[in-house]
Amino acid sequence: MLLENKHVVLAVTGGIAAFKAASITSLLRKQGAEVKCIMTAHATEFITPLTLREISGNPVATSLFGETPEFNVEHISLARWADIVVVAPATANIIGKIANGIADDLVSTVIMATQAPILLVPAMNSNMYANEIVQANLQRLSQYGYLSMEPDSGYLACGIEGKGRMPEPVDIIKEIEFQLSRTTRFTGKKVIVTAGGTREPLDPVRFLGNHSSGRMGFAIAKAAALTGAEVILITGATNLETPRGVSKRIDVTTTREMKDAVDQLYDDCDMVIKAAAVADYRVSCPAKNKIKKTDDRLELKLEKNPDILHSLGERKHKQILVGFAAETTNIVEYGMAKLQKKNLDMLVANDVSVEGAGFRGETNIATLLFADGTQEALPKMDKFELATIIMERAISIWEKRHA
Ligand code: PMT
Repeated sequence: MLLENKHVVLAVTGGIAAFKAASITSLLRKQGAEVKCIMTAHATEFITPLTLREISGNPVATSLFGETPEFNVEHISLARWADIVVVAPATANIIGKIANGIADDLVSTVIMATQAPILLVPAMNSNMYANEIVQANLQRLSQYGYLSMEPDSGYLACGIEGKGRMPEPVDIIKEIEFQLSRTTRFTGKKVIVTAGGTREPLDPVRFLGNHSSGRMGFAIAKAAALTGAEVILITGATNLETPRGVSKRIDVTTTREMKDAVDQLYDDCDMVIKAAAVADYRVSCPAKNKIKKTDDRLELKLEKNPDILHSLGERKHKQILVGFAAETTNIVEYGMAKLQKKNLDMLVANDVSVEGAGFRGETNIATLLFADGTQEALPKMDKFELATIIMERAISIWEKRHA
């Protein structure tokens, strides 16, 4: 869990979205974080400190002049304790106060005193959010390094439709995870990740495809974005959401579309990780209209698709190339052969016939094979955990090559 043992100070200010502070607190704790809530006086009109105390498991501070003796000089001790301060909801008032250096209550004082990153989650009436002063304040705070999330658009508590809704708690948690986990190890580098399965049409309603859900590739894109790299995710059909931090997503259907997308971006990228399950064959002449079931037998003529990774290996200059191999037998032997044939730096071999590995599930079991002939067998683990290890090994190869 990315938030295991992280210290989050959740600063709740006085808007109707304050009631969502309970869900944010609960989700943070489920992800392993410790949460201390602080509230402005106005916030306590919308949700009680008692509720947040019960959900966070910690005392809730509402004033500078300590009803909670557990904290020693509260604003300083909380400011030091925090790995991140999240202001949710952040009203126009607190945004204005911070932007103008005002620290006249516990929340604004903790914000002023902390050296931890501060994430503002604005939520207010859409006219207030659009107000030039609020926008100028947010811009100013961004220049000072404050982080902020865009409000959602939709039905607002004041009865109108517009931009100003607080993002959903799950999205706030994802943003906190991203901000607390990202590094700068691969900042300035470009990484292409392919994910999902390609589909080859038979007719306008049918296709040849495979079982790839896109999970493995999306986990790699998420792990790559956390290294600070610019990540371009090229994916076959999937219903997964683009991971936070991915710079660009390109959706494709067929192998040839995936090849075109990768080829266009290849020359100035630093790393390619090909987790996609690519169709090796396509139907020679897909029917223009739906094929009718008039005959007992239907014969399809297939022709070979280009091998995207093989051609990248031939054109390789500075790039680190990482391939995957979906095997059902002799995974190391077949994997090593693919690594050499496609001129790869690393290959992730997974036995897709084993329970807990390969297609669709949340976990995978892989053996990493390297160009120098070494290998690393990994136990069953969550696909994101595996993705993090793959990124670590791939960046190490890049660093050694450029030392
Ligand atoms: O998406 P999930 O449900 O999470 O499943 C993950 C996965 C099982 C799809 C993934 O872990 C995996 O094994 N991906 C590679 C599947 C595959 O196509 O393996 P392959 O052995 O056929 O291909 C070897 C490598 O060459 C792969 O990196 C593949 O992307 C690439 N390739 C293959 C054929 C082709 N025409 N062009 C290619 O670039």
